[in-house]
Amino acid sequence: MGTAIAIEELNGTNCKTYLLTAGDEAALVDPVRERLEMYRRVLNERGLRLRWVLETHTHADHLMLGRAARDILGAPLVMHEASPSPLVDRHVVDGESIALGGATISVMHTPGHTPDSVCYLVDGAVLTGDTLLIGGSGRTDFPGGDAGAQYEAVTGRLFALPDEAVVWPGHDYRGQTRSTIGAERASNPRFAGKDRATYVAVMDALGLPFPEKVQQALQVNQSGFEAAEIGLVTVADMAAMPGVTVTEVAAMRASATPPVLLDVREPEEFVGELGHIAGSLLVPLDALAGRLPKLLGYHDHEVIVVCRAGARSASAAAILCQAGFTRVRNMSGGMLQWVRAGLPVQR
Ligand SMILES: [Fe+2]
Repeated sequence: MGTAIAIEELNGTNCKTYLLTAGDEAALVDPVRERLEMYRRVLNERGLRLRWVLETHTHADHLMLGRAARDILGAPLVMHEASPSPLVDRHVVDGESIALGGATISVMHTPGHTPDSVCYLVDGAVLTGDTLLIGGSGRTDFPGGDAGAQYEAVTGRLFALPDEAVVWPGHDYRGQTRSTIGAERASNPRFAGKDRATYVAVMDALGLPFPEKVQQALQVNQSGFEAAEIGLVTVADMAAMPGVTVTEVAAMRASATPPVLLDVREPEEFVGELGHIAGSLLVPLDALAGRLPKLLGYHDHEVIVVCRAGARSASAAAILCQAGFTRVRNMSGGMLQWVRAGLPVQR
C-alpha cells in the first residue's frame, strides 16, 4: 500500500466539490467558480500545495473555473481527452494515473452523461461525478449525452468494483453524502434489475427542462470563454445545428465545390497536437463576432465549422446562423474525430 488519499467534500450543498489530500499535496475535484476564495482559504490554512484541478466532466449546472480563476490557483486543469475546452492543461484517457503526494488517482472513462465523463478512483473509493449518483444517475439529454453508454459504464465498469468501494457522487439532492458500490448495485432504482433498453427508455422519458442558467454555464464551460466575450447561444440553438460527419467533410473537400472550413479553436490548438485540416480558416471563437463583417461574403457559401470536440463549433455555427449565414454545418466530433478516422492534418 502506498500513501493514502483523504477525501473531503467542501461545498456542503447539492453540488459537490471534493478536496483530495495526500501528504501536503492536494487536488480539487469539480470546483465551483463562486467558491474559489473558500478553496484558497482551506488550502492556505492547511498548508496544502494544490497539484491538480480535476473535472469529472464538462458541467452544465455551474460555472467551472475560468481563465482568471485558473491563473490564481496555478494548478493544471485535468480533463478527459474528449473535453471540448481549450483551457485543459492535461488530457487524460481511460486507465491513466495521476500522481498525488506519493499516491495515485486512476481515471476511468465513463461516457454517457457527457462524452468526457470520467470517474476518479482513489484507494477504496470512487468519485463518480454525474455518472452514478446515490440512488440515481446523471441526465443524458444534453448534447452528446448517451443513455446506453452510461448504462454500460455503470453496470459494466463501476459495478465491477468491489462491494465496499465508497461512492462519492457529484451531486445529491437529498442530503446524502456517500454510498458504496455494493449498495448501488443492489438497490439503485435506475439500474437494479433493469436491462439496457429499459434504462434508455427511462432516461428518454425523463423530460427534464433546460433552465436558463444551464444554457449559459454549458456554453461557457465548453468554450473556456465568458458568454459576454463570444455572444450567448442556448443549448437548444447549439443542439439545432445540423451536423456533418468527418467522412462527409473529407469527401466534400475533394469535390469541385469544396466548402469553407472555419476552425474556431485557439491558435495554439490549430498548430498543436491534433493539427488542422489543410486550407481551413482560423477564426478563434472569441474573435468570431469581431470578424463577422469580413466573413459576410461567405454567407451563402457552404460553411463547415470545426473545433476540438464539436462543442465550440456548435456555438460558433449558431452565432453564424443568427448573423444570416444560411448553409452552416457543424463537424461532429471535431478534430478529435477527424484524427481518429485517420484523415490527414497539417500542423
Ligand atoms: Fe453534470
